[in-house]
Amino acid sequence: MKSFMIQGSKILATGSAIPSTSLSNDQISEIVQTSDEWISTRTGIKERRLLTGLNQSVIDLAILAANKALDKISMDPSNLDLIILATSSPNDLFGSASQVQAKIGALNAVAFDLTAACSGFVLGLVTASQFLRSGSYRNVLVIGADVLSKWIDWSDRSTCILFGDAAGAAILQSCPIEDNAILNFQLNTDGNYSDNLSIAYQEEIIPHPLLNLHQGSFKYISMNGREVYKFAVSQVPLSILKCLNSLKMSIDDVDWLLLHQANERILNAVADKLCISSSKIITNLSKYGNTSAASIPLALDEAIEENKISNNDIIAVAGFGAGLTWGTIIIRWESAILK
Ligand code: COA
Repeated sequence: MKSFMIQGSKILATGSAIPSTSLSNDQISEIVQTSDEWISTRTGIKERRLLTGLNQSVIDLAILAANKALDKISMDPSNLDLIILATSSPNDLFGSASQVQAKIGALNAVAFDLTAACSGFVLGLVTASQFLRSGSYRNVLVIGADVLSKWIDWSDRSTCILFGDAAGAAILQSCPIEDNAILNFQLNTDGNYSDNLSIAYQEEIIPHPLLNLHQGSFKYISMNGREVYKFAVSQVPLSILKCLNSLKMSIDDVDWLLLHQANERILNAVADKLCISSSKIITNLSKYGNTSAASIPLALDEAIEENKISNNDIIAVAGFGAGLTWGTIIIRWESAILK
């Protein structure tokens, strides 16, 4: 570990992975009482990907996304110092990051999971940049990956239409302070409203006969859609504004709005509130639905692949979701970090 000194941090490369199985709105309407028309108009989602098959887990998607990012810059995984796996659907409650570390051959990297639902990638980027800016580490891999299809009640039409599986990754590196690309962040939590979106642990009523111990298991996703909608539309614009203000920047400086891909109506309402043109919204929601911690890095990776983002563009990135958690990062994109 190096001594403390303030450096910059930048994104060197991104990668993403989606499962091959897709599920259209019409297919969902064969499972629950709904329709393509209802889902499309309320959410903007047309289809989503599901990780099907035996013994497939979030780790498989995370590895694919990580390897794609590493390949783009021909980085040897042994150069990674830290891996942060943002996920709420690990295949091991002790964490899945260490398995990703082993399977990509990043044997010099410390690896841990970060649980912050749909804000996970934003919190992962902020966490990574702290290690980089302090000079503790040089190369950090941040992965956002979720397989919420495994935690959905497929008979609940209010939730099963929304979510999909995916992974996205970004490799960050420390750099001279004048090249800093992660300009600032603004983060929030309000646990008072955690019940509005949760995968709760439910205890058995009858305890262990000798230990008075109540064991249990996790339930399916439960959500108060209206409250989550109101929360996102009211709080996300405020967070973005606070973050821009801290940098003495204005809405006019923003070239791209990259929000957690939860719902097209939320994306549009946030942009409207901020008076940001809809042409600046990065969205791929129609193809993948809400992929939780994967949604931002997946959309970012696709936008880079499509050459949407140019040198020096300012991207306002905002995540929001269960917790409740929400927050913003302002990124200045660098051409050197493309592909
Ligand atoms: N198909 C058809 N009808 C459905 C349906 C579905 N998939 N899901 C719910 N409905 C019905 C309800 O039963 C209700 O019927 P009723 O009026 O007869 O009781 C009606 O549609 C309205 O339900 P409501 O839940 O009020 O709809 P809504 O307009 O709030 O839209 C969401 C529901 C989920 C699309 C919306 O609340 C939303 O997008 N919330 C944010 C969710 C989110 O993004 N979560 C993740 C954040 S990280």
